Amino acid sequence: FPPPQLVVTVARRSVMQKKTQILTLQVFMLLCCLSIFTYLFILQHRIKANITWKHPLGPHDIVYPYDYNYVINEPDKCKNKNPFLVLLIPTGPAEIHARNVIRETWGNETLIPRVTIIRLFFIGLPVKIVEPLQQHLEEESSVHHDIIQRDFLESYSNLTIKTMTSLEWLADFCPEADYAMKVDADMFLNIEKLVKSLLNLDIPTRQNYFTGAPFINHHPIRDKNSKWYMPKNVFPGKEYPPFCSGTGYVFSVNITWKILEASYVVKPIYLEDVYIGLCLNFAQINITIPPDSFFNIYHIDYEACRYRNLITSHYFTPDYLLRSWENFQEKKAY
Ligand SMILES: *[C@@H]1O[C@H](CO)[C@@H](O)[C@H](O)[C@H]1NC(C)=O
Ligand SMILES: *[C@@H]1O[C@H](CO)[C@@H](O)[C@H](O)[C@H]1NC(C)=O
Ligand SMILES: *[C@@H]1O[C@H](CO)[C@@H](O)[C@H](O)[C@H]1NC(C)=O
Ligand SMILES: *[C@@H]1O[C@H](CO)[C@@H](O)[C@H](O)[C@H]1NC(C)=O
Repeated sequence: FPPPQLVVTVARRSVMQKKTQILTLQVFMLLCCLSIFTYLFILQHRIKANITWKHPLGPHDIVYPYDYNYVINEPDKCKNKNPFLVLLIPTGPAEIHARNVIRETWGNETLIPRVTIIRLFFIGLPVKIVEPLQQHLEEESSVHHDIIQRDFLESYSNLTIKTMTSLEWLADFCPEADYAMKVDADMFLNIEKLVKSLLNLDIPTRQNYFTGAPFINHHPIRDKNSKWYMPKNVFPGKEYPPFCSGTGYVFSVNITWKILEASYVVKPIYLEDVYIGLCLNFAQINITIPPDSFFNIYHIDYEACRYRNLITSHYFTPDYLLRSWENFQEKKAY
């Protein structure tokens, strides 16, 4: 038999052990509760719970997904309209003249009878908050109701944010639309040709439709002086998946949520068109290759006859666009 003193010590020890066990259990449960609460909090605040990549904030890194706030919104723009086509046009805060010319040319919502077209300009925050500029934007918005402004800073490398937030807008406020086109402000857009070709799509092609000027087997540019420089740490691959030039691409609106869903997993890169390609690749959506003449990333010399058979041409200043457009409207009927 052990001496009585030892029995007491052992008994004390086991009581202590029990206490420790209970404490450990309590701590464990507390931690469980905490992590459940954190998880719910993250889910609720859409601070993008299932992101699989990290943000080392370098000059080529982008803060997306993120809940950017609306400074100016048009939540009822599509209400009871079932638009056939929504034009998503990125512009800078100061590009007032360009917006006005687009409103009178290819962005004219009532140009094509019986086809509902919606035109929207997407704008971020001016880098320097110049009061008159913001005030002017708000006045412009109250006249035309075609401006969506979110609170990210305007910059070339934030164009991906601009595109992705315009897709968010589509998914949130216009999911019933048939097609959308992201088109730059310095483009000529033959909108009648575009609408005609969309109306003529066959049924299999219309499913998961995405088209534009395609880039297939395109390699990342590793030259630091290039406008399209891609650092290896941002995109290590040898080849981009197929993508369409950001100057103008067209898609069926019902793939918007698939691109957005992919963006929760696919690390954002600052070349917005390449990024859309990465998301399409993830979502297993194939690009539809259009006829050669349709989408032009270069400038095609203006000539009414030639322009009847194309959808986009690049490098148009607002004034040149206005002049060409007037001529095109006169001549297109012949
Ligand atoms: C838009 O097009 C319609 C039909 O051609 C025309 O009547 C209207 O004046 C145009 N609107 C603008 C702002 O140019
Ligand atoms: C892009 O926008 C974010 C959010 O406003 C900002 O923090 C970041 O500095 C911007 N990037 C550039 C290069 O301006
Ligand atoms: C997606 O949108 C296109 C164009 O409106 C439509 O023809 C197609 O049926 C839609 N697909 C699905 C699965 O809803
Ligand atoms: C996409 O294209 C690939 C290669 O051409 C093909 O194998 C695949 O079935 C296509 N996917 C869809 C969804 O059409």
